[in-house]
Amino acid sequence: MSETAVADTSASILQRMPELVCLKCQADLAAQDDGLRCAACGRVYPTDAGIPTMLGEEMSRFAEEIAVQDRVALEYESKRYKDEYAQRYHAWWTDRMTSKVSLDGRILDNGCGLGLLAEQISADRLVGLDISSEMLTRARQTYDNLVLGNSQELPFRDGSFDVAFCRSLLHHLPEPETAVREMHRVLRPNGQIVLADTNASLLSTLPRRIAYSGDHFSDDHKNLNRRMLEGYLTPHFTIDEIEYFGYIAYPLMGFPDMVRVFRFVPFKPIAARALMATDAVLSNIPLIRTQSWGIFIKATRKA
Ligand SMILES: C[S@@+](CC[C@H](N)C(=O)[O-])C[C@H]1O[C@@H](n2cnc3c(N)ncnc32)[C@H](O)[C@@H]1O
Ligand SMILES: [Zn+2]
Repeated sequence: MSETAVADTSASILQRMPELVCLKCQADLAAQDDGLRCAACGRVYPTDAGIPTMLGEEMSRFAEEIAVQDRVALEYESKRYKDEYAQRYHAWWTDRMTSKVSLDGRILDNGCGLGLLAEQISADRLVGLDISSEMLTRARQTYDNLVLGNSQELPFRDGSFDVAFCRSLLHHLPEPETAVREMHRVLRPNGQIVLADTNASLLSTLPRRIAYSGDHFSDDHKNLNRRMLEGYLTPHFTIDEIEYFGYIAYPLMGFPDMVRVFRFVPFKPIAARALMATDAVLSNIPLIRTQSWGIFIKATRKA
């Protein structure tokens, strides 16, 4: 049997991701030929190419988001994360998030998309969850521990993870507060969350309103801000750090699938360095720094 075939069996999925449990009753799962079976209620979760489908029964609320994300996955793969300068921008962004915490222990990438975090976190520690099978099919080219699931209803046992990353997920959700409560549940005591999300500001509000009317976004999309994010987090987490980021480099370099401007800029290597340096300066200037496109928050789970 080839290595891939071994990695794809239901038994190996449970070995790789021992934190998986039944969504209905939180009971252990047992491996069987066609999937993972709940030892208590008997529900079977099918698996495909080593990825278990752990979605709840009421998924119609998410149908539009799934359709949009399945389509956008191809754009991410062929445009956003293929462009050299977007890659540079997103590597900086991901690095900024991962540098805020220790990368020991078990790590959840909630709304993992194409799996960018796997470039910086050892694959055997990392579990990626996303609601789009097209995103996961592509993430699977980088690492194995992937789950088709819903961030508002995580299929993991209580206290499973040391860190949860949440990169540009919350503003996609109908109920971000439910996803935050779920992350609190699946993190260990003193576990940490690192999120990157939108920051509604003078710079971002109008362009985002225009972008959200396009076909990259479902109707659930929000332009969250610091106050809203703090409101979701503070019932369950103590906020340790807030950092505003993304001013000029963010729209020009980060999203070539939507903003097609940087390709016309001359002397790209120099321009890219200058834009990123300018953003770094702006993120330190009082009053100006709050007018960013994005925000990072690091927080620790309350007991
Ligand atoms: C903007 S993308 C970010 C992807 C990845 N974290 C990154 O930074 O490249 C948002 C991701 O959230 C996923 N998503 C949206 N709603 C979700 C939900 N209810 N549960 C899990 N994932 C969801 C989408 O499929 C998409 O991959
Ligand atoms: Zn069950």
